[in-house]
Amino acid sequence: MARIKTIGILTSGGDAPGMNAAIRAVTRSAIANDMRVVAVYRGYEGLINGEVREFHTEDVSGIIGRGGTILKTARSKEFQTAEGRKKAYKVMKKHAIDALIVIGGNGSLTGARLFAEEYDVPCIGLPGTIDNDLSGTDLTIGYDTTLNTIMECVDKIRDTANSHERIFFVEVMGRDAGFLAQNSAIAAGAEAAIIPEDSTGADQLEKFIGRGIRKSKSSSIVVVSESPKCGAMYYAERVRKEYPEYDVRVSILGHLQRGGSPSANDRILASRMGLAAIRALIDGQRNVMIGIRNDEMVYVPFSQAVKSDKPLKQDLIDVLNTLSI
Ligand code: F6P
Repeated sequence: MARIKTIGILTSGGDAPGMNAAIRAVTRSAIANDMRVVAVYRGYEGLINGEVREFHTEDVSGIIGRGGTILKTARSKEFQTAEGRKKAYKVMKKHAIDALIVIGGNGSLTGARLFAEEYDVPCIGLPGTIDNDLSGTDLTIGYDTTLNTIMECVDKIRDTANSHERIFFVEVMGRDAGFLAQNSAIAAGAEAAIIPEDSTGADQLEKFIGRGIRKSKSSSIVVVSESPKCGAMYYAERVRKEYPEYDVRVSILGHLQRGGSPSANDRILASRMGLAAIRALIDGQRNVMIGIRNDEMVYVPFSQAVKSDKPLKQDLIDVLNTLSI
């Protein structure tokens, strides 16, 4: 295989804290290995439209602690079409980009997988998503920061919940995965979490009420995974109807969960993964996502990474339920 001289780098899908740290790590590792770096703006949309600029080491100075992504991001509909991917390939040829590094979540890596199947372009993915829902990696970039952000928010909600002796349903992001909800509930000492992975089939509200609310507790907090039909509003409405003795409120945390300066863990993870992405290219890897398993960098084929069946450890449910009595 010919030596890779120029890499393209882009961020795609929902932004995640630590993406900038990953951009920095990829850029500097590539330059350290005599590669040129072409930054692509606005994800695949920018690749299609030729929004590119060469990056030098100083272009990534001072960004390790910044949230969001300096490259901007987008969810490109056009890249989902064969025509869009053809345009993107032409732009890569025009700018002599030999390989592509994509930092993003499920949709972004699915795009990379399709692209790499159709064109002879080595693609390496970095798991950049707050949802932690990519398979084959213990952690994704952004997850730890968001978990901490949610924990801080729930701590604050607890103060007012206690004062007013209320039940709060706090809705958090995660798309179809409950990692954020379950673990933030444990970290913030919430009374329950309602998550998509609960496999018992039982009504999760009934289970929570059925466990009984201790008389000496002056508030309850239930962290709920976002869901189009059964989000925090749905459960709050049910409590109002079925248990009118409780004073209920809802707090939907929304996009504040995606912002903010990345945690030390996310900065370190992004830095390690960025270096591993360039090593992967040098080793002749293609069409893999960099993952972390048992604290080691691993290569995960895109086909495995984007499977939406990453298991949530069921013992986490026991931890929360037992400790919230
Ligand atoms: O995938 C990251 C994520 O924040 C999900 O948790 C959430 O469902 C979605 O993106 C929100 O997307 P948008 O910013 O487009 O509303």
